Amino acid sequence: MSDSDDDDIPRLSSHTLAALQEFYAEQKQQSDPGRDDKYNIGIIEENWLSQFWYSQETALQLAKEAIAAAGEGGRIACVSAPSVYQKLRALHREDFSVYIFEYDKRFAIYGEEFIFYDYNNPLDLPEKIAAHSFDIVIADPPYLSKECLRKTSETIKYLTQGKILLCTGAVMEEEAAKLLGVKMCKFIPKHTRTLGNEFRCYVNYDSGLDHEI
Ligand SMILES: C[S@@+](CC[C@H](N)C(=O)[O-])C[C@H]1O[C@@H](n2cnc3c(N)ncnc32)[C@H](O)[C@@H]1O
Repeated sequence: MSDSDDDDIPRLSSHTLAALQEFYAEQKQQSDPGRDDKYNIGIIEENWLSQFWYSQETALQLAKEAIAAAGEGGRIACVSAPSVYQKLRALHREDFSVYIFEYDKRFAIYGEEFIFYDYNNPLDLPEKIAAHSFDIVIADPPYLSKECLRKTSETIKYLTQGKILLCTGAVMEEEAAKLLGVKMCKFIPKHTRTLGNEFRCYVNYDSGLDHEI
């Protein structure tokens, strides 16, 4: 290539080049969070998929409840409740196993533990997910509708060996009792944003969420 050909190549100013490098670094950070950041709540921002993340305290309380309910070596299913999955993993404990059932494919960064899940097809799950193979299922359905709760309940009943921890609006109390035999807990879950509807937890077993207020 001659010098004159080289002169034809458009060149970026150092300022533009720096801005471009910063942009690429940010993109990389978002698609490939570092090991330490990987399980931070909020690393994946809320979007239009009816996403309302729990506060750090609530996620921790629910994670601790799930571990206690699952027992030593227990299996935990987080259905549409990604922050509980993240908090469980952020604890860096080896004495339980956990799967994240989620519609938002951004959570596929969690690899083998991510199971794509759409409540509209409640039993459309991979073969490796055997019926009644989880000691506890914690679920937070995306919508406050009877249809969404009914379909999510099908998944919950398929996955659980018995214990259920459901988080949803107070208005769903009667329907939740009918579908899953769960009762409202005293514990009040909190979110990072203020919700328009009163929000509660429901269980079908003797849980810590009724004792530690
Ligand atoms: C109300 S949010 C619950 C999140 C929970 N508060 C947390 O912090 O982990 C509902 C969840 O359902 C997921 N979701 C949205 N559409 C869905 C669908 N069609 N099937 C299953 N889950 C869905 C959202 O991505 C979101 O994580």
